[in-house]
Amino acid sequence: MPVLYVIACGGRPAADLPAFVEGLRSDGWTVCAVSTPSGLKFLDAARLAEITGHPVRSDYKRPEEPDVLPPADAMAVVPATFNTVNKWAHGTSDTLALGLLNEAVGLGLPIVAAPWPNAALARHPVFARSVAELRAWGVTVLLDPSWLPAPGSEGGAERAFPWTRLRDVLADTLTRLEPSSAWRFRAPARGAKIVGMTINESPEQALVRLGLDGVKPPDPVGRFVYGVPAGGFFFVSGTYGTRKDADGRDHLPITGKLGRDLTVEEGRASARLVAINLLAMARAELGSLDRVARVVRLAGYVNSAPGFAEAPAVLNGASDLLIDVFGEELGTHARIALYQPDLPGEAPVAAELTLLLRDDVQSD
Ligand SMILES: Cc1cc2nc3c(=O)[nH]c(=O)nc-3n(C[C@H](O)[C@H](O)[C@H](O)COP(=O)(O)O)c2cc1C
Repeated sequence: MPVLYVIACGGRPAADLPAFVEGLRSDGWTVCAVSTPSGLKFLDAARLAEITGHPVRSDYKRPEEPDVLPPADAMAVVPATFNTVNKWAHGTSDTLALGLLNEAVGLGLPIVAAPWPNAALARHPVFARSVAELRAWGVTVLLDPSWLPAPGSEGGAERAFPWTRLRDVLADTLTRLEPSSAWRFRAPARGAKIVGMTINESPEQALVRLGLDGVKPPDPVGRFVYGVPAGGFFFVSGTYGTRKDADGRDHLPITGKLGRDLTVEEGRASARLVAINLLAMARAELGSLDRVARVVRLAGYVNSAPGFAEAPAVLNGASDLLIDVFGEELGTHARIALYQPDLPGEAPVAAELTLLLRDDVQSD
């Protein structure tokens, strides 16, 4: 059975590792527990050794001592502290846990990390950079700031630790390990969805996957800019589903009124083009969509004949594209669908977009 090293750091969720490890074993993993020296204060090492059948290691061995653990096929960092995430992102190896993790990166082993800083530490600019760095190396980082405990909170919010999600991602990892002399990991394709999440793909990488990284924004028609940053948000101006023709002029490839000239499917296609333009406009101002923390709100206007009532289905063409680029967690957004009696140039759809910028770039 493949060997999973569960690497524990000095955070409260480490106390709940015995039940989690029992679950992993029933999923088909051989589990070995490794702890940072700080982690030992939080976990029950004797109980974990009993469950796993292996000693819980936390120090580098002496040169003459033999290895006591079987080699790892995958690793999970549970919980990953602020401290360990930042040190790991810099390649520091001053604990056995970090040494193993750094080696695992070099070996290309699958690694899943569940960082658990408090909400204030998670806003530290170095932490955001560290997480981005780990993701760039291929580490699957399970992190949603809304899960995290407030500074000084005891218990309460810690129930949000993503035990189930972590176990699901590790079960998926298990299915991607192929037996050979050592287990070989079939990495998911870039942008693949694992248990409902698009893994380790930045919005900019998603644009490349979708062939949208070269899209130029439509020329502004009027005295306005593509978007304005304000109060941590980025407000993108309204636009239509235009495309550039060979001369660089904007034209509408789909025109007409929903419920009279166009099918819902054609409306969806136009809405997708609107979203592509909105992202190109945001990108023109921001430089990179990787500066976006999440998509907040889409307001869509659908050119509708009287009685047409399927604006939500039409606007899904825009919403689906946004979720494809930003993933479920960052891309899912609030939305308003508005019915319009007319739009200029027989445009089927218009929309505007609000984005939240990452904390570390809001002040740029
Ligand atoms: C009671 C207590 C709870 C803590 N909980 C966390 C936590 O949940 N997340 C975290 O990042 N650090 C937490 N810390 C701080 C870490 O234990 C500390 O930064 C330590 O140096 C981490 O070392 P390590 O990364 O080598 O495990 C906590 C500290 C204490 C005293």
